[in-house]
Amino acid sequence: MAQANELVLYCSVQEEWCRLMGESFQRESGINVLMTRRSSGETYAQLKAEEGQPRGDVWWGGTGDPHLQAAEEGLTAAYESPMLAELQDWAVSQAEASGFRTVGIYAGALGYGFNTELVDDPAPACWSDLLDERFRDDIQVANPNSSGTAYTLLATLVQIMGEDEAFEFLGQLDENISQYTQSGAAPIRNAATGETAIGIVFMHDAVAQAVTGAPITAVAPCEGTGYEIGSMSLVEGGPNPENARLFYDWALSPEAQALGAEANSFQVPSNRNAPVPPESPSLDQITLIDYDFVTYGASDTRQNLLSRWDAEIGAQR
Ligand code: F6P
Repeated sequence: MAQANELVLYCSVQEEWCRLMGESFQRESGINVLMTRRSSGETYAQLKAEEGQPRGDVWWGGTGDPHLQAAEEGLTAAYESPMLAELQDWAVSQAEASGFRTVGIYAGALGYGFNTELVDDPAPACWSDLLDERFRDDIQVANPNSSGTAYTLLATLVQIMGEDEAFEFLGQLDENISQYTQSGAAPIRNAATGETAIGIVFMHDAVAQAVTGAPITAVAPCEGTGYEIGSMSLVEGGPNPENARLFYDWALSPEAQALGAEANSFQVPSNRNAPVPPESPSLDQITLIDYDFVTYGASDTRQNLLSRWDAEIGAQR
């Protein structure tokens, strides 16, 4: 069956960047792009729900763990792009770990941001500072089922502290959480408008608010922090496979990766020749843990951690 002159794009970054990617590819290729934006965990769930009757062609963006889970479950297709040769080692490792069913497109460190007009000194600097009772009902983070950001937090705390201790910490943190949002970056948008004092997010999402003039300071937690390898995957059996591969190769080019900064997105791009935005938090100046993507992107691990979060944290709401 001939494919339509169409590409169905599932996108898991910020709306503005999703739109710019879709419009730019459409202009360059003449292929009509139908784009939907959903958070990482939600897009994984959509692929799972559409298994056997896939409607999407490419899943672009979002944290790497659910992309790895989709790969393990055969929801996404193997493809070795000629562009792999231009990518950073961490982006290629992501591809190798998945049997080339996903690939790294950007990286960014987890942290949090606070509203300087709402938080007095001493400024919080560590994960443990978030348990302070002066922040009662004044912190937001997303729900790890829908959000890859929040799952990265869960997996990061488990790797820093051990699983039982991490759930103990999350239980105490829950006292200070006013709301578990659906999307990962929503908490920092809410901190920028003063609806909450602190948002736990990727640091580049805090920087994105600060550069537009919001009174937001980004924090790299003192205990060390996890990071994401934002990823891209081709949907297994998607309706327009050739167009999907055209998009995939284009999205790994320096020109396409430079669009992020134009859309106020400051992740570190995976193509070695793509410009790193000056606003990007520099990963070599942040204490990063050796995040175990293979373990925390495994289907069993992700399901178990999310079930435990639902039982011990989510169900108490
Ligand atoms: O676009 C911002 C961003 O933080 C990405 O870096 C990340 O991959 C994605 O959003 C995660 O979004 P969510 O937590 O909603 O799945």
